Formats: sequence, structure tokens, C-alpha cells
Amino acid sequence: MASPNGSRILVTGALGQIGTELVTALRDRHGEEAVLASDIREVAGHPAISGGPFIVADVLDWAAMENLIVDEDIGTIYHLAALLSATGEKNPGLCQEVNIGGMVNVLELARIYRLRLFAPSSIAVFGPDCPPLAPQQTPLNPTTMYGITKVAGELMADYYHAVHGVDVRGIRYPGLISWKAPPGGGTTDYAVEIFHDAIETGTYSCFVSAETRLPMMYMEDAIRATLELMDAPADSLGPARSGYNLAGCSFSAGELATAISERLEDFVCNFEPDERQEYADSWPDEVDDSAARQDWAWEARFGLEDLVDEMLANLTSMREVEV
Ligand code: NAD
Ligand code: SER
Repeated sequence: MASPNGSRILVTGALGQIGTELVTALRDRHGEEAVLASDIREVAGHPAISGGPFIVADVLDWAAMENLIVDEDIGTIYHLAALLSATGEKNPGLCQEVNIGGMVNVLELARIYRLRLFAPSSIAVFGPDCPPLAPQQTPLNPTTMYGITKVAGELMADYYHAVHGVDVRGIRYPGLISWKAPPGGGTTDYAVEIFHDAIETGTYSCFVSAETRLPMMYMEDAIRATLELMDAPADSLGPARSGYNLAGCSFSAGELATAISERLEDFVCNFEPDERQEYADSWPDEVDDSAARQDWAWEARFGLEDLVDEMLANLTSMREVEV
């Protein structure tokens, strides 16, 4: 069945928080028809469905995925289908199945059909033994199932690159903050939910403590980083190629609430930690992204103040349009 690699792009998990914006960015660059969005579910009116070709596909269904690669002339996969940390801890079996099984399938397809592959990792690869400023190279001892699947993903990607020459690249995304699509069940979701609740009700009950500090990034930076990494010449990439640390900005939940209060003076945030506090506590405060800076000239543009301005302005105008 094997044939030379195709010219089109497949995005798995395209209806999620990242896919919603990545599909649009890829279509802006390559044209609508060149980017096939896919997900296990359909959402009426979703821009990835209304803005170009879309197909329902389960990344665990080998035959369906193989047919899709061949029939749709696919040459590159952006593999976003996954279960995130909080959902993953509720159903660790499914998390293993989707995150590891899906990764094995796309790596094998990339080997057989000589595809390029982008497969994201996460700050969840780090565990409680990691220093507060996470180095690129450090022991990876995550305590969530999600983090374990992400370490496995990085190791498998390194193997497929070293042994089979697969051009697979990845970023350890920080918690991503965006307004176009809701977050998909992660520990860092509080940093998105807080904006919605601040605008809609003026209060938010935050599920981690005010002191909880995590690496975060505005989605615009994350999409640009993804495209820049995939544009980088292969020989510029070093040993971090399957999971580059990427810093955006780092802040505590309390600092985020204060930044919102400075703009919405009646806003009140209460802190009522739940089980997600433990996952957040197992991750570093910030990451050292010097490898990404050195290998492909990464530089973040959005700091805390910029992203708070952007989130409030965009969510407010979206709400005005909807009302
Ligand atoms: P998300 O949860 O918003 O979206 C994931 C999508 O995958 C969903 O639309 C879901 O329907 C789909 N999906 C689930 N199981 C599937 C299956 N079996 N087959 C096909 N599709 C399936 O996630 P996201 O935030 O867009 O994250 C995308 C990737 O980036 C994931 O690998 C995630 O681990 C990684 N990441 C995200 C963040 C973040 O803050 N959003 C941070 C670090 C890493
Ligand atoms: N934002 C993600 C999560 O919290 C990190 O990968 O699960």
C-alpha cells in the first residue's frame, strides 16, 4: 500500500483548544484544501469544519488512519489528539490508550509513508523532583498518567528519528491561554476559565491556590512557535527536537487574578483548591527554553499584561456579538 509522501496536511484532534487555531493558521498559509482537519467528534459550526475539509477519524483506528493518509495525499501530520491531565487522571486507562496508542499509530504511519510529524509534548513531563526552573535535560519523573504518556511520546519520537529517520518534532507546551476555543480538561484550564467567569459573573472560584505558579503561554505565541519549529531546517535541530522547552510567561494564579482585578475592579477571585492542585504542584514554576532559542531562534512576544489585555478585549467583543 505504501506510496510516496503526499502534499497535504492532516491535523488530528483538530476541534480542540490548539487545533481550532492551528487549522486556521495552516489554511491561511497553505490554502483551505491543503489542510484536512479531523477529530473523533463533530461540532456544528466549528471553524475547522466550516472553513475547509474535515473528516471524523479515531487515531486509534489504524485502518481508517492509513486509508486517510493514502487517499487524501497526506505528507505532514500535526498530531493533536490526546486526553489532557485532569481528564487523564479521571480515566488513566483511556489516557494511556489514546495518548500512547495514537502516538504509536502516527509514528508508524510517518515511518511507512515518509511523513513529517509534529507531536506536542507538555510541561507535564516534569515531576516533583524537577527544579523550579525546569532545565531542558533533567530526569523526567511525572506523577500524572498524562505526564507519563508525554514522556513515552518523546522517547518514541526520539527512537523513530534515530532509528528510522522520521522527521518528528515536538514542543513541551506550557499551559495555553486562548479565547477562541475552550480548554480540553487540563490542570491549567483555570487560567482560561477565570477570564470567562470574570466577564460573565464578576467572580471565579479557582481550583488551585493563589500561590500556584506555572509556565503559561498565549495561544498566538504557541501557534507561531509550532509553525516556526516546523519551518526550521532539520540540521538546525538538536537533541531536544521531540520536546523543546518553551517559555511564554510564568505567573501565579493570584497574580493573574490581580491583573484581571486591575482591569475589572469589581472582580473577586476565591481560591478553593481541588485534586488538580496536586498535579499543578508536581510541575515546575517556569522552564528554561535556551535550546529552542538557540536552535530555531524562539522568542515569546506575550507577557502577563499583554495576554490579560488580549483575553479581556477579545472575550468582551465576542460576547457583545453573541448578545
Ligand atoms: P484538547 O483536549 O482541547 O483537544 C484534543 C482533541 O482530541 C479533542 O477535540 C478530542 O475530541 C480529540 N480526540 C480525543 N481522542 C481522540 C481520538 N481517539 N481520535 C481523534 N481525536 C481524538 O487538547 P489541546 O489543548 O488542543 O491539546 C492538543 C495537544 O497539545 C495534546 O497533545 C496536548 O497534550 C498538548 N498540550 C496542550 C496544552 C494546552 O494547554 N492546551 C499544553 C501542553 C500540551
Ligand atoms: N495544559 C495541559 C494540562 O494542564 C498541560 O499539558 O493538562
